Amino acid sequence: AAVVEHTFVVKQVYIRHLCNDTLATVVNGQFPGPPVEATEGDTVIVHLVNESPFEITIHWHGVKQRLTCWADGAGMVTQCPIQPNSTFTYRFKVDGQEGTLWWHSHVSILRATLHGIIIIRPKSGSYPFQNHQPHVDVPIIIGEWWQRDLMKVDKNFSNGGSFSDNPAGATINGKLGDLYNCSGVVEDNFVLNVEQGKTYMLRLVNAALFSEYYFKVAGHKFTVVGADANYITPYTTDVVAIAPGETFDVLMVADAPPCRYYMAALANQPPAPDPQIPVFVSRGIVQYANDDTTGAAASGCRDGRPPPMPEMPDQHDTTTTFHFHGNLSGLPTHPLLPQLRGRVDDRLFISLGKGTICPGDRPSCRRGGGDEAEAIEVAYMNNVSFRLPERMSMLEARQYGGNAGLAVQELPARPPSVFNFTDPALIPVGPGVPLEKIEATRKATTVRRFAHNATVEVVFQSTATMQSDSNPMHLHGHDFFVLAQGHGNYDPAKHVRTYNLVDPLLKNTVQVPRLGWAVVRFVADNPGAWFMHCHFEFHIAMGMATVFEVANGATPDDTLPPPPPDLPKCIPHKKE
Ligand code: C2O
Repeated sequence: AAVVEHTFVVKQVYIRHLCNDTLATVVNGQFPGPPVEATEGDTVIVHLVNESPFEITIHWHGVKQRLTCWADGAGMVTQCPIQPNSTFTYRFKVDGQEGTLWWHSHVSILRATLHGIIIIRPKSGSYPFQNHQPHVDVPIIIGEWWQRDLMKVDKNFSNGGSFSDNPAGATINGKLGDLYNCSGVVEDNFVLNVEQGKTYMLRLVNAALFSEYYFKVAGHKFTVVGADANYITPYTTDVVAIAPGETFDVLMVADAPPCRYYMAALANQPPAPDPQIPVFVSRGIVQYANDDTTGAAASGCRDGRPPPMPEMPDQHDTTTTFHFHGNLSGLPTHPLLPQLRGRVDDRLFISLGKGTICPGDRPSCRRGGGDEAEAIEVAYMNNVSFRLPERMSMLEARQYGGNAGLAVQELPARPPSVFNFTDPALIPVGPGVPLEKIEATRKATTVRRFAHNATVEVVFQSTATMQSDSNPMHLHGHDFFVLAQGHGNYDPAKHVRTYNLVDPLLKNTVQVPRLGWAVVRFVADNPGAWFMHCHFEFHIAMGMATVFEVANGATPDDTLPPPPPDLPKCIPHKKE
């Protein structure tokens, strides 16, 4: 196995889009950042040099980090952030997984521009699909372009959210595409050059802060062969639905008449509280090399007609994504499946919703202003809104034992009360409608501890208090098997028998349907402190997160080693 080594210099640079030069924090001057390309089994070493004014960590999203939790890069969970003018070196292996993952900053919102793809190729050099060995890899990173001060946006969300904080547009590989323009200047398209008859491996990443996306290419079909760096049962479709944090490996055969075809990434916005949220769509171009042959002329491509545009699902369509995710299945041969079918050691039922708290832990406050402080809207798991610790990371506290003086509480295994979670009557309408008519919420640093090798089942139940958003729930350090999903309230009497224990999808991010639920199971076999959160940036900023701590096993082979010597120290912050 080889060593793949990079130096990432984090810096602010001006990037021009929409007739504006916007200051963006990026790696090595690039948006998206540089790809990390490795072969399964390789060691990855990234020297991070922070020349930005911000505290930075980099998370290797989906990399299992077996026995290297210290390199997971979750700010205040596995490490204190890397201060401006400081460095830290991430070292880890990419083993036991093949496909597409990605990296992004994990201190607040800067991941909008601090991200890039991770490609893990098979050691054998060939893929386990019968017919089509892909000709070439094509990273397709879907993101957003922001013209607002992201630090301010982050602050707004930690203080209850502001729905006027929207990106300026959607991007494919950093390009907004020709549907965006200003003063007659049309934005660039991402262009994929293809040769007829060849197979392309599209490596799709949704790096957006806000939206799930629909992705299509006019005149072409896809075969989805991988999800979150796990092979799946090949699935043919003409549309991919991808939530923030998800990755898909998709084969596309260039089998259409030589021509140009649009590809499009359209943001899926569930019925929004603010009808002013615009439609976000970036489009790119698939360009056939032999566009000027007679075949092309016959297709009408050279006669001046515009390239065909794919017919996209409706902006508010939540059915297509439900079916896309529900139709995927994994491989029946995974070695953890037998354990998964056996005893379940720990069960959690986690309600995902929104409530209000009073600022500064005050006992009371009110909505609507006045002299008294206003209540702050927060997002929760089982009515606890997560607060990051400040003095020390959770993983250091775990290492030193007894929480090392951090005020850590256990995440409740179920919500404080059971009600009709998805009753549309509970959807708060308009400002000033109290969310606490349902139940009280509090803020705390929560953790859930699991024995080494425990089989854990988590039911995620979304609630109507979420303004009916979907929730892409992401777990660090482990992949989980997705056993079932559905609309409405989860009911064990009805739903346990629908569990797929034969060939469930293996993911690091599960899309919990809007006004619905999803069930996952995983084996807690990787010692450490692992962040578990919604991958919508505003939900994580508002506290929809917790930490899963996994105990060491009995032997050095399943014990987390001590931290690397250059692990950053925490700098105490002044409270604002
Ligand atoms: Cu990609 Cu903690 O996330």
